[in-house]
Amino acid sequence: MKKYTIPSFEVFISDLRSHFAKTLPETEHWEGVRQLLKILCADEEMRQKSKEWIAKRGVELQLHHDPDYGFFVGGLIRQPNHRANIHDHAHTWTVYGVLDGRERTHVYKRLDNGNKPGEAELELLSQSDAPTGHVDIVPPWVPHSEWGMGERSVAITVRSQKPGGYAQNRFNLKTGETNNNHRGLKLIPTSV
Ligand SMILES: [Fe+2]
Repeated sequence: MKKYTIPSFEVFISDLRSHFAKTLPETEHWEGVRQLLKILCADEEMRQKSKEWIAKRGVELQLHHDPDYGFFVGGLIRQPNHRANIHDHAHTWTVYGVLDGRERTHVYKRLDNGNKPGEAELELLSQSDAPTGHVDIVPPWVPHSEWGMGERSVAITVRSQKPGGYAQNRFNLKTGETNNNHRGLKLIPTSV
């Protein structure tokens, strides 16, 4: 296994691997991942490390891709007031934690049954504050959008698989259009 220089990150990966080895029922499994990511997002040394990362639109830092369990740990750096497009993560699960700064999370519900290609009707289900340390679970097929607020923010993702190899849906709330051309963000391997 690869070694990491930030002790809390090393422990995080080791704890995640032990957790994945338990093969718990889905909901219980991802709630457990959420608890582990909460510990990482509370770690000051990890937060300091993330301040080195440069905010770039369309990029996700690849921090870990697990050779045995397939899960992926990423870093997303948002410039102040960055508005992400509304999208889903297809069939994959994501746990999303704010390591630095403050974000706002918007979750939508799809009202149509998907039988009109290229069209989707969305309703805003909730919008909530995601301050430093806040960790959410994003289940498969749930449309959502994360907003950066007035300062740079950093989020850590734990994904059930490495992004890029599957199509994700994107939604345009104004026009009602949707497409599944999205293949995730550009991944940049980054050492921690
Ligand atoms: Fe997302």
